[in-house]
Amino acid sequence: MEGGGERDHEAEPEYHCHDFEWEDLRADVEANPSFSHHLSPFPTTAASPSPSSEAWRSFHRRHASGRFFKERRYLLKEFPDLLNNNDVAKMLEVGCGNGSTVVPILRCSRNNIVYACDCSKDTLEKANEIVNNTEGLDGKDRFHPFLLDVSKETFPDWLFCKSCQMSNAKAVDLLLDSSEHNTRKEHPVLLKENQCCVGGIDAVTMIFTLSAIPFNLMSITIQRCVSVLKPGGLVLFRDYGLYDMTMLRFSPSQRVGFREYMRADGTFSYFFTLDTMRELFHAAGLLELELEYCCVRSINRKNGKSMQRVWVHGKFQKPTR
Ligand SMILES: C[S@@+](CC[C@H](N)C(=O)[O-])C[C@H]1O[C@@H](n2cnc3c(N)ncnc32)[C@H](O)[C@@H]1O
Repeated sequence: MEGGGERDHEAEPEYHCHDFEWEDLRADVEANPSFSHHLSPFPTTAASPSPSSEAWRSFHRRHASGRFFKERRYLLKEFPDLLNNNDVAKMLEVGCGNGSTVVPILRCSRNNIVYACDCSKDTLEKANEIVNNTEGLDGKDRFHPFLLDVSKETFPDWLFCKSCQMSNAKAVDLLLDSSEHNTRKEHPVLLKENQCCVGGIDAVTMIFTLSAIPFNLMSITIQRCVSVLKPGGLVLFRDYGLYDMTMLRFSPSQRVGFREYMRADGTFSYFFTLDTMRELFHAAGLLELELEYCCVRSINRKNGKSMQRVWVHGKFQKPTR
């Protein structure tokens, strides 16, 4: 693992834990002069950073082996809504990478259909390969990856059409329509606007993706995700929290904004407070159902040092009317 903003895909904890109080960590960090460069306001005159999608594309090209795939089994404990056993549920995983979040969602219920976007074609191909080759998953027909830079582009019309958005509760489940079943299942991305569509999404997952998008583009990104949700639909969110160990390792020169950093490879990392989350999601019209810090103490196996990890866990809902 590299220092100063390590890429910690492997360092995920088992699931939701509260090993320490976030307020105690905050007091320690804010009293420690060696962390003062993380706290100072960022000059507003500084040019806002450019989108890091190209950096992510290079990252995935360099790591084509799929080494960053690790099934996030803890997700189902964190978000039991994913364990849906009754009705067909359409999920959208935003910034799916190699499918670490997609696989447990497909695995936990045969009723789950997963649409998944990423800005990198290479990682989508890898995710597809992993889904197709994972034994016992049977996810081939229920996984629909597509290329999209969510910080720049709107979601495609086939995911939701305007008439379905308006009569949302009654949106016809076209993928299950018997006469069209086969063709649509095989070619869901070829659905035509207003002729047929997926009919909206039941739950959007954003798992370590929003932090990868420049802060000035987060609002619009969230609005886009909300636009494809059915009324009553959920956003399930997990990402880096303020004063996570990886933030404190960044050097002053890696700061590109307030609580925002650029790794050596050009990818971004933002660290959220609950208040920032609240503001962003409320502004997009969502209701807060769950929002908290997940604070985990883990021990570095190499040097025996204790590491304080902080993640933000959130669950938000689109109002039903
Ligand atoms: C830290 S990975 C998380 C992957 C996955 N959600 C998971 O649970 O492991 C962040 C992902 O977001 C993708 N990403 C970054 N910026 C994006 C953008 N603007 N549009 C779409 N995907 C983006 C990256 O390519 C990367 O695969």
